[in-house]
Amino acid sequence: MVPRSAPPPLRAEARRIEVKLMMDGKTYPTVGFVGAGNMAEALVSGMRAAGWPAECVWVTNRSNRARLDWLRARYGVCVTQRKDELCEASQVLLLAVKPKDVPEATQQLRPFVRPGHRVVSVVAGLTLASLERAFPNLPVVRAMPNTPSAVREGVTAYALGRWATEEDAYLARQLFGSVGAVVEVPEERIDLVTGLSGSGPAYVFFLVESLIEAGVRAGLAPEVARDLVVQTVFGAARMLRETGLDPAELRRRVTSPGGTTMAGVGALEEHGVRGAFVEAVERAARRARELAS
Ligand SMILES: NC(=O)c1ccc[n+]([C@@H]2O[C@H](COP(=O)([O-])OP(=O)(O)OC[C@H]3O[C@@H](n4cnc5c(N)ncnc54)[C@H](OP(=O)(O)O)[C@@H]3O)[C@@H](O)[C@H]2O)c1
Repeated sequence: MVPRSAPPPLRAEARRIEVKLMMDGKTYPTVGFVGAGNMAEALVSGMRAAGWPAECVWVTNRSNRARLDWLRARYGVCVTQRKDELCEASQVLLLAVKPKDVPEATQQLRPFVRPGHRVVSVVAGLTLASLERAFPNLPVVRAMPNTPSAVREGVTAYALGRWATEEDAYLARQLFGSVGAVVEVPEERIDLVTGLSGSGPAYVFFLVESLIEAGVRAGLAPEVARDLVVQTVFGAARMLRETGLDPAELRRRVTSPGGTTMAGVGALEEHGVRGAFVEAVERAARRARELAS
């Protein structure tokens, strides 16, 4: 796992590539987003905040011109409704459409794809084998980021296709590392990652909603409850990251026998919250596998 604050590890091959890119006067490859929805925006927003130049980010969608104009106004990126123009401008094609729209999008791209392009997909359930069938002989990367990428606190797992090289691994680390932590996993783990960290922010938002509701029901003003809960979640996450301690150990340290926290955690155990999270991850991962088929 590469923490956001640390530079991505540069293997020998990758180091050479960076030197080559810098000699070309260009440190960033041009990334063309196919799809301009929530996930594309999270990545665009994080990449721009990380200093990715606006002229190295292109975006297209199917038909929503207003959305493209909005993205251009907000992030300064280049937009087009033409796939030939997107392919011409981009070295990396980043597929960010819904799984059901993949056949149409790949069919539209195929006439304009050329050797030298690389394809990175963030589509849940879309396998490397399918990507390689859609883009024969091109290096492909299957990635699973999550939406906190928008604030450069995302986490992305990726797997490489059979034509992908160290250069593609470096690209994945450069691209997703600019918006959070990055980890390479075998492809058979990506569906699990989808259920865990891809869908994970929604589980945390659900937890936050529930805690705020509990605070309000007990008599707190909604904005006070929100401030208390958001800062608690943020502080707990920072403690986990900065101490590196096991969560069970951190929990033990705030739970004195017979005390208030023990009473609260007891209620969570009685209501099967742990089991509910296990089931949530399994069900989301199963859904990712279903989408693949
Ligand atoms: N949201 C997440 O947390 C998350 C996390 C990890 C991965 N993902 C993956 O990211 C992908 C996109 O999710 P999303 O939430 O961003 O979806 P979304 O908000 O519905 O956006 C989908 C985008 O795809 C565009 N599109 C559809 N068909 C197209 C085509 N033929 N050519 C070009 N663009 C096309 C749509 O354009 P129009 O609006 O013009 O139709 C829209 O901009 C999904 O496959 C999902 O599995 C999402």
